[in-house]
Amino acid sequence: MIIKQRTILSLALLISLTLLSCGAEEIADSSIAPTATSASISNDSIYKDSGRPVDARVEDLLSRMSLDEKIGQMTQAENNSISSEEGAKYYLGSVLSGGDGISSTNTIGEWTDYVKGYQDQALQTPLGIPLIYGVDSVHGFSHVNGATIFPHNIGLGATRNPQLVKKIGQATAQEMLAAGIAWNFSPVVAVPQDIRWGRTYEGFSEDTQLVTDLSSAYIEGFQTIPNGTDVMAGATAKHYLGDGGTKFGTSTQNIIRPYLLDQGNMLYDEATVRSLFLPAYQSAVKNDVMSVMTSFSSWNGTKMHANKHMITDVLKGELGFKGFVVSDWGGIDQIDSDYQKAVMTAINAGVDMNMVPYDYVRFIDVMKKAVAAGDISQARIDDAVRRILRAKFKLGLFEHPYGDPALTNTVGSDAHRQLARQAVRESLVLLKNDKDALPIAKDISTLFVAGHGADSMGMQSGGWTITWQGNDDVKLMGSTSILEAIKSTISSSTTLKFNETGKFDGASDVGIVVVGESPYAEGVGDKQDLRLTAEDISAITNTRAHVKKLIVIILSGRPMVITDQFQDADAWVAAWLPGSEGEGVTDVLFGDYLFTGKLSYSWPRSNAQLPINENNSAGKTGCQAPLFPFGYGLGNAGSQAIEWINCLN
Ligand code: BGC
Ligand code: BGC
Repeated sequence: MIIKQRTILSLALLISLTLLSCGAEEIADSSIAPTATSASISNDSIYKDSGRPVDARVEDLLSRMSLDEKIGQMTQAENNSISSEEGAKYYLGSVLSGGDGISSTNTIGEWTDYVKGYQDQALQTPLGIPLIYGVDSVHGFSHVNGATIFPHNIGLGATRNPQLVKKIGQATAQEMLAAGIAWNFSPVVAVPQDIRWGRTYEGFSEDTQLVTDLSSAYIEGFQTIPNGTDVMAGATAKHYLGDGGTKFGTSTQNIIRPYLLDQGNMLYDEATVRSLFLPAYQSAVKNDVMSVMTSFSSWNGTKMHANKHMITDVLKGELGFKGFVVSDWGGIDQIDSDYQKAVMTAINAGVDMNMVPYDYVRFIDVMKKAVAAGDISQARIDDAVRRILRAKFKLGLFEHPYGDPALTNTVGSDAHRQLARQAVRESLVLLKNDKDALPIAKDISTLFVAGHGADSMGMQSGGWTITWQGNDDVKLMGSTSILEAIKSTISSSTTLKFNETGKFDGASDVGIVVVGESPYAEGVGDKQDLRLTAEDISAITNTRAHVKKLIVIILSGRPMVITDQFQDADAWVAAWLPGSEGEGVTDVLFGDYLFTGKLSYSWPRSNAQLPINENNSAGKTGCQAPLFPFGYGLGNAGSQAIEWINCLN
């Protein structure tokens, strides 16, 4: 039965292809109307029967699809470029919200309705194939105001806690599924080798094994939600391959400002690439990761989106990846200025879905031309569509295409915030603790707090928070800044003074200065100079003059160069980008919990030392060694000053 249908369809296809190849006119005019008629799809069709095995459902559905419908499945547009009606008209397989693709009021209710709008239309198409909506929930469902914002991956790397990371995956999936969003472009499984890269914080670590362990725990958690909801969620291991290995200065991209490393060129040999970057993908594939996103970057001058050897032979062949490969945002366009050639190269290299993101009609037209010209085979199209459909069936989207109201109250719930708070506590790395500066007594008589990070949800959360680049002044419902957490922790008899610049009157036993980076994302955050800003340095020196013990907390997406200021403070804490739960910081500062975090990246002494990591610093000592090695982190039992070497003169 199935075979018969497929033969008839193949014949029909052959005829339509012959017609299409008659001339460009027909192609441009070729109707986007479906060839399958609604009447032919009865509700007892194999693909509609959830009791049937996934592969049988896939084959049945595929056999009913026109070329237009197949190409539609391979197309993903960004939400601001496509209406729900257009999505259905072109049979789009997917719509995404990019970093700035937020809904207008940005509440969970509005997101749920918004995604449902696309889904309703998709389900009206003759075959009724549900669309899969995708977002970058790289530290919680961070598009939504009121969602739980977990620490960015660099902080999770410092926790060394796969069980915790698994739970964060589960919690994130729940918050997304509430809105009917089953696809996350996360986790980043990059193994960043140069912290000047603006995506360092998206990576768990510079260490391959740590990245592998934590990213796989995340995928496992994200893709399996306990206490059942009927629809599952799918993760993305990205960016394939070697996105954390590009050489400083090789990027030619310029968005907002010229990039330095992001989207640049990687120059390692294949053995090195395999040992540094491939293990996380091997493990992700073992954990049945739903999708893999190709990297914008190049390897020895060839764009990864065009790398058939790595995508088809290695990922799909050698590693046995059964999910689908999605391009990065307009990544295919970067292969060649001739768009048709670019598309042909990427699809033939093994990219299954194109994150277009804007001009999806052009992509669809070019795909049709390429198929008609024999530049892309029917077999390649079928392989891509099979992979995408299989994912949709496995998720349960055909049966449960909408948001799950039972999960709405998990969004920003107490339980999820407690989990995030635990993650914050475990992510803090104590770099120095002289004079027993930490922990601080809750009933201390006076406490001075300074620094532009002390009361900034934007700095606490970093990029990919509400918007793509993040924002210093962002307001997040239900969140707690470090200053607010300090206020609710100290005793009623403590006098607290807050002055951002550290210009205090009088004196205090203890001062806390919160410094660090303003938010950024991707190559916009590529930086050559990782020293603290003049503003941060003066907040530290100003406060120092008024306090007996000074504690500096750094909020940053990577280790910063702090050598010149290191002796000015008695204690230093690296807090990374902790997210919405500032109490996680005070839990440890005030001694309710111990410091347990360990560096997931090597900490440089100077800009001149960059790039420095465990791979290139092995065996280096004294001033050649990092200021703090990978794995460093003090406990807070008493003072454990590091041996200070003055390397500056
Ligand atoms: C990033 C991806 C992201 C995509 C969609 C790209 O610019 O490189 O990591 O998933 O945008 O927002
Ligand atoms: C989008 C991001 C995307 C970036 C790349 C932004 O406008 O929101 O998702 O990664 O553009 O240029």
